[in-house]
Amino acid sequence: MAIRYIPYYPDTIEGQAILDNFARTRRTLKYRDNDKVIERVKRGAPLYEMEKIETVGDNKDGNMVIRGECLSACAYLKDRGIKVDLVYIDPPFASGADYAKKIYVRRNPQLAEAIAKAEEELPNDELQNFEEKMYGDIWDKERYLNWMYENLFAIKSVMSETASIYVHLDWHIGHYVKILMDEIFGEDNFRNEIIWHYSTLGRPDDRFALKHDTIFLYGKTDETFFNKEGATMQYSEEYIKSHFRDVDKNGNVCRKRFDAGKWRIYYPDDGMIPNDVWNIPYENSMSKERVDYATQKPEALLERIIKASSNENMIVADFFGGSGVTAAVAAKLGRKFIHCDIGINSVQTARDRLIANNAAFDMLEIKDGVSFYRNPVQTMEKLKTLITGLRNEDSLDKFWEGAIDGSKEGTIPVYIPNLLDSGAKLLDLALMNRIIREAMPDLPDDTKKVVVYYIDAIDLKEINDFIKEYNDTLIEIELRDLKELLDEVVAEDYAEYTIGEIKNDLFSGWRVKINKFISDRVNRKIDEYNEKLFNSPNRILIGESGLETIEFLSLDCSSDSGVWHSDEEIKIDKFGYAIKNGVKTKDFWDGAICSEKKPLRLKIRNICGDENVYKLCD
Ligand SMILES: C[S@@+](CC[C@H](N)C(=O)[O-])C[C@H]1O[C@@H](n2cnc3c(N)ncnc32)[C@H](O)[C@@H]1O
Repeated sequence: MAIRYIPYYPDTIEGQAILDNFARTRRTLKYRDNDKVIERVKRGAPLYEMEKIETVGDNKDGNMVIRGECLSACAYLKDRGIKVDLVYIDPPFASGADYAKKIYVRRNPQLAEAIAKAEEELPNDELQNFEEKMYGDIWDKERYLNWMYENLFAIKSVMSETASIYVHLDWHIGHYVKILMDEIFGEDNFRNEIIWHYSTLGRPDDRFALKHDTIFLYGKTDETFFNKEGATMQYSEEYIKSHFRDVDKNGNVCRKRFDAGKWRIYYPDDGMIPNDVWNIPYENSMSKERVDYATQKPEALLERIIKASSNENMIVADFFGGSGVTAAVAAKLGRKFIHCDIGINSVQTARDRLIANNAAFDMLEIKDGVSFYRNPVQTMEKLKTLITGLRNEDSLDKFWEGAIDGSKEGTIPVYIPNLLDSGAKLLDLALMNRIIREAMPDLPDDTKKVVVYYIDAIDLKEINDFIKEYNDTLIEIELRDLKELLDEVVAEDYAEYTIGEIKNDLFSGWRVKINKFISDRVNRKIDEYNEKLFNSPNRILIGESGLETIEFLSLDCSSDSGVWHSDEEIKIDKFGYAIKNGVKTKDFWDGAICSEKKPLRLKIRNICGDENVYKLCD
């Protein structure tokens, strides 16, 4: 349940295009339901409990990696009076795609060397792997725009007066969002439409190849901070050769140009602020920068943005942080950072990336009831399996998730809020009204009961009173709390380990050896994958010990409870090599983790991203 609602930035800019214009241009934009978002914007962003999960290094700068929704992260920042100086967001594009992550089964440490030899010739894709959904980008335009509108409002309310916002989109939805941005930030605060041009493979022969994304840059006010020096780029040698053909009175190479009414002299070392078309290559799968995140953007792109629109020590925020590229570049450039993302895979990837950059930060989790499972897409899928007897029912409108058979009540339609859409999460009077007035009248005549799941409700009593007063159908409405269902999802992974003290010439300390690791959640995924392959040789095989399903281990030698402090950690990359405390090695993981100090807790992350903590007893 939200603690309270935090008001957004007061109002849209007077005299600018307002959302209602869309309704008037129904013919082209068909933007229905835009009035629904107004209610939500009036209510504000939901503020939830925030839990600190881990602290990395001496986080004097207050850097944050937040797991949760953009809206609630903004509510948290606003509640604490934290303002950010630069925002870059690369939200879902409404691309119609589902993004998946390849999960690589690691090598069995006992057999690692032998397997490596056998696999030497295989391309990466042939390492044992299966896929897991990360996030879905399938929206209808209206829902997307409403969602985006609310997010932009939330973000605006945490921007400092001189802050800039870069919104990275493409042809799918970019032009519509530009209109929302005009409304929210004001046409006068528009700064640039940046074209990020890249060359990737694939050229259709029936039209021009789509090879650019669009980044809209707005200021919060007309006093936007712009770092002229940071934005300036050096000329390439080629450019100098072709453009600098004059000499000054001292014989230095220069370029003389008649600019803005007078002659000016430019020198090769001066560099210049680039124009709005940026040619920056996409990092391919072999690049060192790649962290296996489907929509990962290049560091060079973020470097240009961060250098141009911030100074050292300013706060740079990315509320759809993905692979952590913004936070990683901000940290490298001496900026403070806030990374937020709804998916567990994102916050883990960002965390591990930042550790490799020696950054200090806190890992925070918003307790909003949505992020129970690894991400909302997987939570939605899981939910459907948890509702006993739920099946698709073709005769029902798509508003209903499906139906269950109740012996006395016949077929019971079930409504589940779409966790991908923050607007649908909250059961309020408007939604109840819609259920009663729009969804229930279309149900088959013999329907006796419906079940409405909710994740959050402002006031259940008020909703029940509303049902009593306005439900004039004969259909009973049962409200059920989704969180209770989700509580059943979390099953612990099982680990067997031995701890020993070691003293020899090379090392003095402790060694925790993992003997067995069983993750039902991972094993179930592998079983599902194998089932589809029948007897194919590509079936995934896991050894007795199950150590191939471990991705990461960490030891906390400082405290046996509360916030995690990683004193030693090992990440096992997809080839089986150990990354120790962020430093890549060419050693295969040997099935153990060592620390100089006595370890008090062990954390193990499985290859799908679930983490478990084990208290280490003597
Ligand atoms: C296009 S990706 C960002 C990629 C990122 N710029 C990078 O370079 O790695 C969009 C991200 O938004 C996240 N996301 C989707 N809905 C969200 C929400 N409501 N709040 C926060 N993050 C969200 C997804 O999990 C995904 O990681």
